[in-house]
Amino acid sequence: MTDRTQEQQRYNEVAVRTAAVLEQVREGTRQKLAGAEIPRERLFPLFDRTGLGVVLEYEAMGNRPVSEALQARAEKLGFELEHLAITIGSVIHGIDLRTSDSPEQIRFIRDVLLERKVVFFRDQHLTEDEQVAFGRKFGELDAFPFGRPGGNPYILEIRHGRNNPGMENGWHTDVTWMERPSLGSIAQCIEVPPVGGDTLFSDSHACYRGLPAKLQQRIAYLHGINDYRTFLSKRGPVGLPEELIETIKKEIPFGVSHPLLRTHPETGKTGLYFHGGFLRHDSLYDARTGEALERSESETIVRALQQQHGRPEYQCRFQWTPGSIAFWDNRAVQHYAASDYYPHKRVLRRVTVSGDKPFYEPS
Ligand SMILES: [Fe+2]
Repeated sequence: MTDRTQEQQRYNEVAVRTAAVLEQVREGTRQKLAGAEIPRERLFPLFDRTGLGVVLEYEAMGNRPVSEALQARAEKLGFELEHLAITIGSVIHGIDLRTSDSPEQIRFIRDVLLERKVVFFRDQHLTEDEQVAFGRKFGELDAFPFGRPGGNPYILEIRHGRNNPGMENGWHTDVTWMERPSLGSIAQCIEVPPVGGDTLFSDSHACYRGLPAKLQQRIAYLHGINDYRTFLSKRGPVGLPEELIETIKKEIPFGVSHPLLRTHPETGKTGLYFHGGFLRHDSLYDARTGEALERSESETIVRALQQQHGRPEYQCRFQWTPGSIAFWDNRAVQHYAASDYYPHKRVLRRVTVSGDKPFYEPS
């Protein structure tokens, strides 16, 4: 027997003996605790509440992916729900968005959106006008001033390829530079790369519930200033002339204040709410007193919050195929488009449903 084999054998004997001793100790604890209810908080490590955040959000959902009432309505309408993660994301199967447009069907889609935060549809292949008409069933639409317009003015075309790699690979919620940011976005896939190009969605309510209690308290009344500076670059091949930038800033408010915590106006839930690219990281202030935070504290808080949506427990991931549609609630999720397909092409078309002014009311 070689030295290496002997060493391995000794290690395994110790490992087996240790496992047996530890199991004896655990069995003793189990017997002592038999029948006792251990508080959930003690089951999760205090230094990382990621798992607990999901548990608490799922509990608020009644420990089921959708309410019994909504499940019954799905069955009555002949639709099937496929859930992609425990608290977020469902595909609605058996629906044709061109014809499934009775008030009852539209109300159903809206309610699945409210419970599941993002809904998906497969094989729809809507024309631009049909996609706009579908969006209108959920409210007014917002045109988008800074992107590539489609043939219909309410369509934003998101097109990436050899000279234009994907740029949406940061966690964000859409258009927080608006005073009334869009309620939701409806994106349809037109062209996919051979592999990759998925979009990930992360549950802002579970993310809030999963924050350390101290950080939850610290950010409760903090607001920050958001603007669209990233669209106004003076440099590079698409640099804009100064006069044009000034005109745009005069016409579209530049620098609007939003709370870091947002009360969902329909479900009443609290969620983390920001766009890391539009929020000025040094701009946090206490909305009760108007007092600004020290620059370093402001930046540290934003950096800490930016970690949150990236944890896989909060997420679902959607693989696009041509004709598939994602409809996400900007008040309840952040999203991230994986930029992992260069030099291939990826084309989506988006319409956005108008929203209201974000506010925070402690529950
Ligand atoms: Fe986005």
